[in-house]
Amino acid sequence: MAGLIDCVVGARPNFMKIAPLLRALETPPCSRVCLVHTGQHYDTNMSDVFFEQLGIRVPDVLLEVGSDTHARQTARIMERYEEHLIASHPAGVVVAGDVNSTLACSLTAAKLQIPVAHLEAGLRSFDRRMPEEINRIVTDALADVLLVTEESGQQNLLLEGIGEKKIHLIGNLMIDTLYRELPRARDLNIPARFGLQERRFGLVTMHRPSNVDDPAVLGRLLALLNEISRPLPLVFPIHPRTRARIEAAGLADALRSPGIVATDPLGYHENLGLMAAARIVLTDSGGMQEETTALGVPCLTLRENTERPITVERGTSTLVGNDPDLIRRHFFDVLEGRYKRHEMIPLWDGHAGKRAALVLRQAWVI
Ligand code: UD1
Repeated sequence: MAGLIDCVVGARPNFMKIAPLLRALETPPCSRVCLVHTGQHYDTNMSDVFFEQLGIRVPDVLLEVGSDTHARQTARIMERYEEHLIASHPAGVVVAGDVNSTLACSLTAAKLQIPVAHLEAGLRSFDRRMPEEINRIVTDALADVLLVTEESGQQNLLLEGIGEKKIHLIGNLMIDTLYRELPRARDLNIPARFGLQERRFGLVTMHRPSNVDDPAVLGRLLALLNEISRPLPLVFPIHPRTRARIEAAGLADALRSPGIVATDPLGYHENLGLMAAARIVLTDSGGMQEETTALGVPCLTLRENTERPITVERGTSTLVGNDPDLIRRHFFDVLEGRYKRHEMIPLWDGHAGKRAALVLRQAWVI
């Protein structure tokens, strides 16, 4: 009988990447998949809602690790995942993206000599102040199958000495999910729920330490949002991390401006519906840089660098860091019709899941 493989998810950005792969692996010739959820994200609106909306089945294994410092969270995932791996000994483990669950599970599997496949391998911001960069580098060094979304990823891996045969440019799984769910997201007419009309609002998200941990930086960003929400209302779904920082810094008043619609984190369809209809998106999310490029919506990326350079070079993203003057300038370029042109990205075509499943079936007997 063909071997069993584990597909691991842990945090919000993993769910939309694993959904198309699971679908492809579980259509004939069906592979046997054990779906593992580490529980790094556990709130209904950070986890369950994505399973429901994306039709992901109930996980076979829940590690229920919850939040903690990086070392404690990573260690707890490793301890619990090791027990599961020793009991089930799968033929391979698939991890996605760059969150702590990705690193913890690949390290645990590699030590038990179980092969690892990494979805979204090779991306590099070259900024080790980001915990995600460390997670990416370690995971890629350990992985046996590296599935890559854009050419820069291939080049980065080759430069790090990873064998060419392990690297596969398969495109972008998250964009498979986007194309599949877009009609549903549009049908729901999400802007109307917020009293807004298509292209007459902006969407803002931020949760990176570089933007929300320093009260001075956070205060400046919130003041700027207040200012730019006068010409264009802004919907601002607030990540739990950001909510906590705003409250701790005593900045909650900044969210009471009439142009800002502050909400809890949104479901997949709600966020996609807003993103697709927005005039502009301001975000520090890696995923939304890619999604806005696929949708052709201008994206001001609130970061100094990006591990997804194709979204800047050929897509709709511009790096603006957290400098109010730069953000303001690009914001008005968009509003006044001066923004750059973009192109479609090769292999971001809705079929990456099938290509990934093919590579995995060829690499492992599953
Ligand atoms: C994690 C990822 C980040 C990703 C982001 C998407 C790492 C290192 N970072 O960051 O790459 O962009 O997910 O959301 O893995 N919390 C809740 N409910 C939850 C989950 C978290 O309230 O369901 C709160 C907790 O206070 C927690 C904090 O958010 O301490 C941060 O959560 P954590 O998973 O550590 O990191 P994120 O900032 O979400």
